[in-house]
Amino acid sequence: MLTSHQNQEYGSRTCIVGEEEHHKRVSYGVAVRQLRCRCTRTKVAATGGIVFTFLVCITLLSIFYQPRIDQKPGISNQQKENVGDWNSTRLSTDVRPDSYVLYMHPNLTTFTFSGWVNITVSVTSNTNNIVLHAQNLNISQEKITLTTKDGKKRLGVIKTDSDPDEKEYFIQFSEALNAKQQYVLHMEFSGLLRDTMYGLYNSSYKNDKGETRYLATTQFEAAHARAAFPCFDEPSFKAKFSLSMVRDPRMHNVSLFNMPKKSSETLANGLVVDHFEESVKMSSYLVAFIVCDFAKITANSTGGTQVSVYAPPHLISQAEYALDVASKVLSYYEEFFGVAFPLPKQDLVAIPDFSAGAMENWGLITYRMTAILYEEGVSDSSDKEWVAVVIAHELAHQWFGNLVTMKWWNDLWLNEGFATFVEYLGSDHYNSRWHMFDQFFLKDARIALGRDALSSSHPISAKGASIIRMLDSFIGRDRLRKGLTAYLKKYQYGNAETSDLWHELTEVSHPVDVEAVMNTWTNQKGYPVVHVTRKGNQLILSQERFLLYPKAKAKKKESPYNYIWQIPITISFQGQISKKLLTKEEDTVVLPLLTRPGWLKLNHEQTGFYRVNYDEEGWSQLTRILLQNYTALPTADRAGLLEDAFNLARANLVNITTALEMTQYLRGENEFVPWGVTLSNMLYLYDMLWGNEQAFNLYKKYMLSLMDPQIKRLGWERQPNEGHLANLMRLKILSLAVELGHNETVSRAMKMFNDWMLRDKPIRADYRSIVYKAGVSKGGEREWDFCWKKYLAESNDAEKKKLLIAMTFTKNIDKLSRYLQYALDPTKIKKQSAIQVLAGMSRNHAATALVLAYVKQNWDIIYERYGEGSFEIGRLIEKTTQTLHTQRDYVQLKNFFKANAEKLGTGEVASKQALESIKANIFWIKNCQDATVTWLQKKLS
Ligand code: BES
Ligand code: ZN
Repeated sequence: MLTSHQNQEYGSRTCIVGEEEHHKRVSYGVAVRQLRCRCTRTKVAATGGIVFTFLVCITLLSIFYQPRIDQKPGISNQQKENVGDWNSTRLSTDVRPDSYVLYMHPNLTTFTFSGWVNITVSVTSNTNNIVLHAQNLNISQEKITLTTKDGKKRLGVIKTDSDPDEKEYFIQFSEALNAKQQYVLHMEFSGLLRDTMYGLYNSSYKNDKGETRYLATTQFEAAHARAAFPCFDEPSFKAKFSLSMVRDPRMHNVSLFNMPKKSSETLANGLVVDHFEESVKMSSYLVAFIVCDFAKITANSTGGTQVSVYAPPHLISQAEYALDVASKVLSYYEEFFGVAFPLPKQDLVAIPDFSAGAMENWGLITYRMTAILYEEGVSDSSDKEWVAVVIAHELAHQWFGNLVTMKWWNDLWLNEGFATFVEYLGSDHYNSRWHMFDQFFLKDARIALGRDALSSSHPISAKGASIIRMLDSFIGRDRLRKGLTAYLKKYQYGNAETSDLWHELTEVSHPVDVEAVMNTWTNQKGYPVVHVTRKGNQLILSQERFLLYPKAKAKKKESPYNYIWQIPITISFQGQISKKLLTKEEDTVVLPLLTRPGWLKLNHEQTGFYRVNYDEEGWSQLTRILLQNYTALPTADRAGLLEDAFNLARANLVNITTALEMTQYLRGENEFVPWGVTLSNMLYLYDMLWGNEQAFNLYKKYMLSLMDPQIKRLGWERQPNEGHLANLMRLKILSLAVELGHNETVSRAMKMFNDWMLRDKPIRADYRSIVYKAGVSKGGEREWDFCWKKYLAESNDAEKKKLLIAMTFTKNIDKLSRYLQYALDPTKIKKQSAIQVLAGMSRNHAATALVLAYVKQNWDIIYERYGEGSFEIGRLIEKTTQTLHTQRDYVQLKNFFKANAEKLGTGEVASKQALESIKANIFWIKNCQDATVTWLQKKLS
């Protein structure tokens, strides 16, 4: 986590500056952590009960934090046939599932579910017991049976046990299961159909008559298939799944599974059982099923896959856009990956209560409403882009992740990083006017550069997509695609590790050793800063790990590569490009061109995942070019220079004035990406200087002086033939103008708000976020109440979201504290939106302290609701602490985390990052604050 707007995902993730991020993206480091921080311990059978002996509490975390080459090969537990030692974090591979026949009855009258499963297993070595996963399930021991596959022999069950912490279930048999034989394990179970948003859960919506309709749906990634049925819930246990599912036809006419429906039968009691076709071999986390009353629309991809979008009947017209995107992108991917989509159908379903943004269940992708529905005139430009991006992302997973799956969660990044990279290809293919790859640096790379600049980051956390992009530009798209196709074909229906992918890419990239290069990026944390010194015709390059808070520096020997990366460096000398693979800590490049005077810029087009620090002359030459003739540099490079300068200043590697000097060129900058990047960095200053009134006023004045020419140029009207990015730029600038109190912009926005509030005059979709924010932040109780009323009455989730965020901007203390209470009251604000409210509010300086106090006070509730099965708690920690910048804040937060060490759940990594971020903020105040104020004074006098 970084401070302030570092993490604000602009572009599609946040359309408007200064608001809570508009769209969300899960942080995968956290997911991995959830699955590894478990204790290895021994279970001892004792008379009259079970005694848990906590032997070694090895935080497996540290295993994954280490480079993989240091990893001990068997975290998987091979000794589980020994009853005394069955319980550890990985299931034994002695018993593997081949297929599941599953019977489920989600009961939406009683809000319970029941079912049975027949798992055909293969035994690889003799064992007396089976350990598999189960969570919150009532399993009837008497009903468990194990028979040989041919049905001839039945083994008796001696005893069973369950471990709620490990979410495992243990069955001991009267005699050994024989190696090389197949058995069928039958289990019956039941559970509660709660609104947990993981496992098998209930969700609801109001139909057009205002009646509440319930549905049952699933979310299994990462480890919650076990909360729906007993299973071997690890990605390597691929098996074929078939399902029969019961529904009440009076309430629900639709039931869905990964595969198409085969047949239906009506039972004597009037209920219907739907039988589905058997799946291909797949991991349990990708299984999904739904019972609902949704409507659907269908189209065919060019490859003949039936693509359907499901939504509540009154919203189905908003699904047309998603259907168009999905069928086109699916066709494109079949061509791009060189592998046909293997399932007969692909469903996309809008789920009213959903924890993540979307989930790639094979053939049955589930989405938050805002990530799939699009309503012309209500959804805005970035909503539209976001829907396509999410669809492109989840469809990419159908190959990358579903067809070939990571062996274990430590390689989740491979899954997510690749899907994220490919999402750009897919959405760019769908609409090239979005210029998705131009947006990459703003929306993805700089977010990852921010996250990974903390020593508490993860080796592969956020940077996945960015390092694949670096590889893409290093070896070229053709080789990338070839290697990828080979990889998918080789490992299809199986599992692979990161190194397997690098290996296939090496095969097609001769003489480049992709594996050697990429290992340095995936097996160590963080990324480098490259220092450049120019001497005659020589360039001296040196590298070190970049850390925002340099004192957090990890020891070199923590990394197998001593924090040295193999960096594909590109050097632009006045636009002429040279390349160099920097593999050492320091190296020299001889460039005859350099004898001529001229500017030099490394990391051409910002496709590399590193920062660059020039010598003093280098920076001043680049500053001069920006101020005098900025179009000499490509757009991405302009953005990159500002991004690097601001962050090098935070790490105290350059003076903050280097960055500030460069910002002056923005008055003439007409492009979205450099503005977006600079504003994010300037907003960090906004947060740091807040509270220091004199500095804050200077800051505002300076920002408005930069923005003024652009506000005038852009106006409020879209120009004919204007591009998507130009439009996004207008929205970003106007939004910030409102926040900084630009008079004309505020009064224009207020007029639109009043016309809407008093005369019901509609507001153009693109302007709503800005206008609502103006209304709430500059208005009072009346404006807030009006938005709240609208919020309650609204049925479009994209519109609701805009209102929800706008209301966080109020300065009225009564409203703020009331809104805080609403956030944790699920009858007022849905569980899936609460964190957005809290996170959004803490962006509001008038509310920051209030929110933090409230969050601390209500931590037990928050932990109970979000601690497991979602990433929200990590996001909450990040967002509510990112602007703190005093030693006192640090100590208080540290004590709070200490007191709640057992109750951080999926937020544990975020808590460490929060503390480091505060340290980094204090460091900025110490190094940069005075220089910033002096510089502003000089410029404004
Ligand atoms: N598979 C993830 C969602 C996920 C990851 C759920 C880990 C549970 C554990 C999905 O593909 C994803 O990345 N969703 C994103 C949206 C995407 C477009 C960035 C999300 O939910 O933010
Ligand atoms: Zn994903």
